[in-house]
Amino acid sequence: MDIGVDYYPEHWDRTDWEPHAKLMAEAGFRLVRLGEFAWSKMEPKEGRWEFGWLDEAIEVLRAQNIRVILGTPTATPPPWLAARHPDILNVGKDGRALEPGGRRHYCYTSPVYREYSRKIVTAMAGHYAEHPAVVGWQTDNEIGGPKCFCDACAKAFQDWLKTRYVTLEALNRAWGTIFWSQEWSDWSQIPLPRHSMHGPSILLDHQRFHSGQVLAYHQVQVDILRKSCPKQFVTHNCMGFYNEVDYWALAKSLDRVALDFYPGNLWGEGKFNCAGHDYTRSLKHQPWMVMEQRSGLTGWLEMFQAGDLPGQLRLWTYQTVAHGADAVVYFRWRTSRFGAEQYWHGVLDHHGVPGRRYRELSRVGAEFAALGDRFTGASYVAPVGIVLDPESRWALEIQKGHPKFDCLAHANLYHRAFTAHHAGVEYWHPADDFGGAKILVVPTAFLCDEALAKKLTAYAEAGGTVVLTFRSGVKDAANVVVNERLPGVLRSLAGCLVEEYDAPVGREPFVLALAAPLPKKPATATIWCDALTLTGAKALARYADGPFTGMPAATLHRVGKGQVVYVGFQGDAAFYGLLAKWLLADQGLASPFAPSDTVEITERVKGKERFLFVLNHAATESKLKMPAGKPWRDLLTGQKTGRTLTLTPYDVRILTPTVPA
Ligand code: GLA
Ligand code: ZN
Repeated sequence: MDIGVDYYPEHWDRTDWEPHAKLMAEAGFRLVRLGEFAWSKMEPKEGRWEFGWLDEAIEVLRAQNIRVILGTPTATPPPWLAARHPDILNVGKDGRALEPGGRRHYCYTSPVYREYSRKIVTAMAGHYAEHPAVVGWQTDNEIGGPKCFCDACAKAFQDWLKTRYVTLEALNRAWGTIFWSQEWSDWSQIPLPRHSMHGPSILLDHQRFHSGQVLAYHQVQVDILRKSCPKQFVTHNCMGFYNEVDYWALAKSLDRVALDFYPGNLWGEGKFNCAGHDYTRSLKHQPWMVMEQRSGLTGWLEMFQAGDLPGQLRLWTYQTVAHGADAVVYFRWRTSRFGAEQYWHGVLDHHGVPGRRYRELSRVGAEFAALGDRFTGASYVAPVGIVLDPESRWALEIQKGHPKFDCLAHANLYHRAFTAHHAGVEYWHPADDFGGAKILVVPTAFLCDEALAKKLTAYAEAGGTVVLTFRSGVKDAANVVVNERLPGVLRSLAGCLVEEYDAPVGREPFVLALAAPLPKKPATATIWCDALTLTGAKALARYADGPFTGMPAATLHRVGKGQVVYVGFQGDAAFYGLLAKWLLADQGLASPFAPSDTVEITERVKGKERFLFVLNHAATESKLKMPAGKPWRDLLTGQKTGRTLTLTPYDVRILTPTVPA
């Protein structure tokens, strides 16, 4: 387990480097990411490589036993490159090229940009492949956007469509271009879609194409690093649930996935932030790391977010460890005096004198040193699975069906409910095997195919619990509505049919009447409401008012040794709480701890060792009633627990069973 910092030696005087490295080492930072925006310093003129300054910076860090992750600097092409080859610039929907000066202003398709990227990555890889202090590589930086509308991309999109559909007839048929006289009679007529009047089929394919271009661009770098640097790992800093590029596919090319984690009042903070952690871990179902974690007040030119409160930096660090991470790198070491991020504070303020945040993280450094490799390789206990399909997300983002419908937020209502009950959640791609999940939620399987339907059926027959929802089995791969009754290919598994549906825009939520095994407690439905007919399932909930009064709204279907729940609406928080509670109890997975929205409890196991992470996200003291039985030992304090655990604000406990078990 390591902590580290993102460091930009090129922003500071040479005389600052030694004192910086010394302070880092004293705080227990053992990892540093370097170089990811320093192209103009590594290649100040075309073909003139200058790695001397970077060699020196790495030596200064190495002298303090700090290891280095190098970033390839391709998110920030230098001005000379854009001046010589303006065609590398990303072109917006308005046809205008982005001006150089910020970052991410390149085109993923541009063969020229790929060539320059290849050159600098090759030069760096050649220079650092054998460096003893360099342990890994980060490719580019937060790759994915923006989409590019240049001529090269237009041509590449047409070629991509040709490969996918082979003939124009097939494309016209698949997309239904007879609608509004859009039947393309030559590939060259097909534009990059700039507006939504085109319809969902071309928009989904354009998104697939864009993601594919990003992946192809990225793979150029991965191939070089794999070939030249076999001893060093390759990672990329992802942004949680960001979906401009298919992260599941991106993760396949990486050795490990990294997350950039910026909790706060803007992006949300507290216990339920861990959804992004769970997703990041799930992309490879392996230990992961944080490449950038917030370390102070944040802000750019126009956007600001309140500073962290004392204890939160430490808490957020343990939150990542609690969810399976084995390294946390903070963004950034010292706050920049210039550039767009002057308000994006690092561990040190602009002046560089260590303060509260430095001291807080030094405490973490000391604790990590004492814990050693205790959790390295420990797996995360997650009996609940959520299937998240990047393509269904794209399709549902193109066409929400209700202005307030957000398919990711909907999926994460389930994550939230299970997490409130302290049940670990793993996300799964539809092509995965779903591991050993006992409860598998498949929210809005919009583009569901036969293969997924079969897999889910086999999973239920073998004893699994599947939760299906509204907007499932609706579309085919071309984003065209299926020619059958909903939920399409999932009909027999669900044991119900969608008789009629409504997206009650502007209406009050409908009241639900829940039926056993759900308790008769109040719950409501909103955003989307399927009125169901039973074809083998029984009703779990019925509409108690509105146009579908009396009709089933949710169902339960026994299938083989398992069961399938179909939820035909987006419910309120109370509904998901009741559903999660029942399903966990039904599967013998109920936590011995009372559910909580602020106290987070997760479990990791390593061989026979069990670790419970208990995190208090509340700004106030919290009391946790411990289950009866043997006491636990807190690895951080060495103390045994009593019947009640008193947690101070932002407190962290790591509990392990006392011996003998
Ligand atoms: C992202 C980037 C960093 C930095 C931070 C803070 O995560 O990867 O380079 O810009 O945001 O804004
Ligand atoms: Zn382009």
